[in-house]
This record gives sequence, C-alpha cells and structure tokens, in this order.
Amino acid sequence: MKKTILTGLRPTGNLHLGHYFGAGKTWREIQNDYDFYLEIADIQALTDNFNNPEKVRTNVYEIAKDLLAIGIDPNKVHIFIQSQIPEIAELTVFYGNLVTVSRLQRNPTVKTEISQKKELFGNDGESITYGFLGYPISQAADITCFSGEVVPVGDDQLPLLEQCREIVRKFNSIYGNILIEPQQLLSKTSRVKGLDGNDKMGKSLNNAIYLVDTEETIRQKVMGAITDPNKIKKDDPANPEICMVYYYHQLVNKEEECQTICSECKKGARGCVQCKKELINAMNEFLKPIQEKRKYYEEHPEEVERILQEGTTQARNKAKDTMKKVKEAMRIAY
Ligand code: TRP
Repeated sequence: MKKTILTGLRPTGNLHLGHYFGAGKTWREIQNDYDFYLEIADIQALTDNFNNPEKVRTNVYEIAKDLLAIGIDPNKVHIFIQSQIPEIAELTVFYGNLVTVSRLQRNPTVKTEISQKKELFGNDGESITYGFLGYPISQAADITCFSGEVVPVGDDQLPLLEQCREIVRKFNSIYGNILIEPQQLLSKTSRVKGLDGNDKMGKSLNNAIYLVDTEETIRQKVMGAITDPNKIKKDDPANPEICMVYYYHQLVNKEEECQTICSECKKGARGCVQCKKELINAMNEFLKPIQEKRKYYEEHPEEVERILQEGTTQARNKAKDTMKKVKEAMRIAY
C-alpha cells in the first residue's frame, strides 16, 4: 500500500520559480509513489487575508492551473479546496483544547509572520487575531484529517509540523491511539535565491519570477539581475559563483551550456549582456511547455472545476473516515 502524503499551499498569488524548484518539482517527482493529497489552503489564506476574500477565491483557480501546468497529474493527486472539507474545521475546534495559547505564541513560524504583517497585526502583534494565532492548529487538522504519514515541506514549515506532532501525541494519550504522527519530507533543493541576490524568492520581496510571466517581463527581470560587482568591462574575468545570472543558468539551462558559461566568464571571454540574453532565452524555453499546458487549462475552465470537485470529493471521503474514528474516541459520536 502506498503511504499517504499531504501538503498544502495558500492561494495568495501565482506560483513562482521559488515554489517550483523548492517544492513543485519534488511534488511532481513523487506523485507516483504516494497516495497524494494536495490542499489549496484557502481557509488558511483567509487568516491573513480575511479582508480580501476575492483575492483568495481568484487564486484558488490560479494555483490550481499552475499546479496542473507544472505536471501535477490529477489522476494521481487529489487536488482539493480546504474550505470544502468541513471535517477540517471541526477537527480544528477539537484540537483547540490540546494546545496552549503560549505554545502558539512561541511557534517560530507564526512569530516571524506576525512580525512581517505589522499593518494587520500591529507593531508588537497586539492586534493578532485568534484565527491567525491558531492556524498551526488548523494545519494540524489538515494533515491528520487525511492520516498524512509524510508531509513534503520547506524548512520554514518544520515548527508547524512539530506542533502537529505534539497535538497528535496529546490526542492519542487522552483519547486512544487514533491519529498518525506525520514525518517531514524535506525538499531536496534548498530555497531559490532571487535575481536581486536575496537569499529567498518571494512575492513580498518583489523579486519573484512567475511561471506565468511573459517574455517581456522575463526580459526586464533578467536584465536587472545582479552580477559580479567587480566585473566592469565586458572582458574582465569574473566570478560566476557570486553572479545571479549564472545561478539561474544553472537552474534552467543545460549542463554543457553552464560549463561553457562558467569557464568563459572566469576567463573574461563573455560579457554580462550576452549572458543575460542567453538566460532570457533559456528561461523562456524552460517556461514554454509549462505555459502551453497552462493555456490549455485557461481555455478549459470547466475541466479545472471538475478536477477540483473530484479531488475534493475524494479528500472528503477520507476525511469522513477519520472524523468517525475521532468522534468515537472523543465520546461524541451520537
Ligand atoms: N502553511 C503552508 C504555507 O504557508 C500551507 C499549508 C497549509 C500546508 N496546510 C498545510 C503545508 C499542510 C503542509 C501541510 O505554505
């Protein structure tokens, strides 16, 4: 029997290359090996976008199309919408008793996010909502609702997974051994840097290259990329290891090409403008099949709708099984 795997993402914007290399590619590679539940976490997205429901709704469909475009196969993966699984909300309420407020306040991921969202939660988090503070509980419900044994995540999510395991242990020790303690599956690729040299690519950092970016947008972004600052003239030798253009060549270009680029750059036999133009081409080539696939789904919204409905129905069935056991264990099965 295949192991069950669950992961999720918040529908707050389109997928960018950071998502692709940090997670999406891994998901595509492992989709044959697991019974895979892929949640579009709209309820979680609402915890810090409650005042912008239309944005969340739009991005549910955007994310679904992005996932299909990168090759997530809906015949293998249950792609579903969190809000359509009421069992998750129910479980969240039950788990609320098993977590202290101070434990939530100490969760490093939550802490970081609160400090990043001052306009919403205040300078010192004094306006933090109950919903946002509690989203790790809801995420524990996401995972355990489908008896997720393995959770593929980036390292920023590890504190949430640890908190989930604590909830599982507490639940099992009080009500009996019902829930499964999930294990992480860390992405092989580490975080993708931005073209601006930032350690991370992100929407809020304004340095993201989206899978849906047009050729013109790609051109502008690549032309602005950071190169070796010591290289002034076209034939100055430079260090490709500190050049973001070379870094991206390694992500999207062929290996032989990268070797040539590296040695030419070191010898001063290659100018940055030429190198950027080649990267633009390589990036467009890389994105082409993804964008073609995406176009198909843009033209067939009914198919996207059907995929989400089917994935949600399959997920719901699994969630109902868990809920039955949970309610019996908690002596609330009437
Ligand atoms: N918190 C994740 C993020 O911000 C999204 C998410 C929701 C998730 N539910 C999950 C991740 C369950 C792993 C497991 O991207």
